[in-house]
Amino acid sequence: MTGRLGREFSFTDKHFSRIRKFVTAHTGIVLTDAKKDMVYGRLSKRIRNQFDGSFDAFCNAVDEGDKAEQEYLVNAITTNLTAFFRENHHFEYLRDKLIPELLRQKQQSRKIRIWSAGCSTGEEPYSLAMTLREAIPGIDNWDVKILATDLDANVVQHGQDGVYTRERISGLDESRQRRWFQLGKGENEGLVKVKPELQQLIHFKRLNLLHDWPMKGPFDVIFCRNVVIYFDKQTQSELFERYANILTPGGHLFIGHSESLYKVSERFAALGHTVYRQLPK
Ligand SMILES: C[S@@+](CC[C@H](N)C(=O)[O-])C[C@H]1O[C@@H](n2cnc3c(N)ncnc32)[C@H](O)[C@@H]1O
Repeated sequence: MTGRLGREFSFTDKHFSRIRKFVTAHTGIVLTDAKKDMVYGRLSKRIRNQFDGSFDAFCNAVDEGDKAEQEYLVNAITTNLTAFFRENHHFEYLRDKLIPELLRQKQQSRKIRIWSAGCSTGEEPYSLAMTLREAIPGIDNWDVKILATDLDANVVQHGQDGVYTRERISGLDESRQRRWFQLGKGENEGLVKVKPELQQLIHFKRLNLLHDWPMKGPFDVIFCRNVVIYFDKQTQSELFERYANILTPGGHLFIGHSESLYKVSERFAALGHTVYRQLPK
C-alpha cells in the first residue's frame, strides 16, 4: 500500500535529516531539501528488503555504526554520471598543450603522475590513458601512472574491471574504438573491455577525498571534475588547498564545467575553460 505522497514507506523529515547529517559528515555532499525524493527513491529497495519497510531501523543501523549500511548509503547517494571524453576540450588541452610541455620538462626523470579524483566508473581515467598513449611516442620508455580514486566501492570495481556496454563507446570514433577496446563475444555480446595497455597505466583505489590521503604525490595533473558541486564552500576550500599542496609546482588542475575556484581558492591561476595552474604559496 502507498501512503502519503504516494510513498510505500514512512519517510519523515526526521529520517531525512538523520540521513543527510551522516552523508555530509562522511562525504562532504550537502543534500538540499529538494533531494528528499531522490534519497527516498535510492534507498527504498534496501528499506523494503532489509528493514521491513522501516526507515527508523535503517537510520538506527547507520547511526550505530553498521559499516555495511553506511557503505550502502554512501554508494546510493553519490551521483556517478560520467562518460568517455566528457568535456572533451580538457583532453584536447592535455594533448596539445600540457603533454608537449611535460615531455620537455621531464626529459630527465621521464616520470608523469596524474590523479583522477572522483573517477566514478572509470571513463575519465581511461580517457586520460587513451590521450596519453596517443600523444606520447615511446610511452613505454616513460614512467607514466594514473591514480584513479572514488569514494564509491562499486564504481571503483567497475573501473577496475573495465567492462562497458557497447553503447557507452558509441560516441568515440571508429579507430579509437578498435584500437582501445575488445569486443565481447557469445555471452558477452554487446559488451566491450578496455585493452590491457590502458589498464596497465591506471591504479584504481577507493578513497574518500575528505579523509587522509595515503599517497604523497606529487602529481603533475589532477582531474577533479563534477565532484565538488555538492560540497559546501568550506569543504571545497580545504580540498583545493590540499590539491595545491600535492601538485608539483605549476601543476595543473582540471575541474568540472559548472565548478569554479572563484572565492574558493587563491592557490591557482585560471588558464580558461576550467583549467588551472598551481601558484607558489
Ligand atoms: C558525477 S561523478 C564525476 C565523474 C567524473 N569525474 C566525471 O566528471 O565524469 C562524481 C563522483 O564523485 C564521487 N565522490 C563524491 N564525493 C566524494 C568524496 N567525498 N570522495 C571521493 N569521491 C567522491 C562520487 O562517488 C562520484 O563517482
